[in-house]
Amino acid sequence: MKMKIAVLTGGGDCPGLNGAIKWVTKSALDPRIAANRSVSFDVVGIADGWRGLVEVDPADKKSCDRYIKYLDEEVVRTWDRYGGTNLGTSRTNPFNPKNDRSEKLLNNIKKLGIDAIVAIGGEDTLGVAYKLHELGIKTVGIPKTIDGDLAGTEYSLGFDTAVNIIMEEIDRLRTTAGSHGRIFVVETMGRHAGWLALRGGECSGAYIILIPEYPFDMDKVCELLRERKGREINYSIIVVAEGAKPQGRQEFLKNNHIDDFGHVSVGGIAGYVAGEIEKKTGLESRHITLSHLQRGGTPSAHDRIMARWFGIAAVDMIVKEDFGRMVTLEKGEIGTAPLAGVINKLKLVDVGKYYDTDRYNGRRIIF
Ligand code: F6P
Repeated sequence: MKMKIAVLTGGGDCPGLNGAIKWVTKSALDPRIAANRSVSFDVVGIADGWRGLVEVDPADKKSCDRYIKYLDEEVVRTWDRYGGTNLGTSRTNPFNPKNDRSEKLLNNIKKLGIDAIVAIGGEDTLGVAYKLHELGIKTVGIPKTIDGDLAGTEYSLGFDTAVNIIMEEIDRLRTTAGSHGRIFVVETMGRHAGWLALRGGECSGAYIILIPEYPFDMDKVCELLRERKGREINYSIIVVAEGAKPQGRQEFLKNNHIDDFGHVSVGGIAGYVAGEIEKKTGLESRHITLSHLQRGGTPSAHDRIMARWFGIAAVDMIVKEDFGRMVTLEKGEIGTAPLAGVINKLKLVDVGKYYDTDRYNGRRIIF
């Protein structure tokens, strides 16, 4: 039996996506493994995530050339070294009730002769994969999000590279912060989850870390800064998650845009925190938003190896007909979990377990 696998990437890009595409392709086409399988594969990449699969016109060669990429071992040979996604991505939701294009999507899948889909993405992309599975399409998921908030898995592609970038940028900021004796407020991504800020702040030795899961008191932040002034060093680094909020207030919004999945664009909190510090304490403060730098560049060693394992596991799932599920990392081992369990649910920071609400930082007690 021969099956056509379509692989696509959806949502925000990040390092590790290309590695996952490479390893889906390599393990599907590996001649040694293929010799022992009852099924063989063709692999195609879909450009621009679900948008590509909705917009492609299967009857038009030009359109197919634009959206359907034939993948083999030679094409993907070097992909794991590069960040971003060579297939392109989008935040298209074919099931958006305001613009439902799911029928077109289903027709295209049929007309293109696609037998199974590997969707690499976060909650939104995998949510579409789940809906397709419910409609009888064979789908498997690979978890990806730098936010680290996908339920059902301990790891999602992109997180480790993003944390490393936060750490490197903070290392750079320290020399200038120290030279001028300034407070630096560093805004990380993460949307409604504080994982990037918490882990990025912890590995950088940030003095204060503010996360969405624990609304902060601006007076308390100032008190912590005053307490430190003149004691150890003459500057401080504060890491603030873009979704963090002062007590009694809503998340700060970058603009009024709402995406196809209903998400608002959070951000801008670092400027507020730096401004309030100057106002309340007189300490000279600067702020910086790391923004999309956190998703840029080449994948870390961890993201390369996870991309490899996740890609291989996704093909194993297709061989075993384990559909409607995603690859996971659980207690350090690769496993699988139902896609149903990752939608409409975020894995947020457990404040009691990981956050010190007195110091506004990572907990200093492990056991
Ligand atoms: O979900 C990933 C993420 O990078 C969030 O941390 C961030 O809020 C959002 O995407 C940014 O989205 P965009 O790429 O559309 O600017």
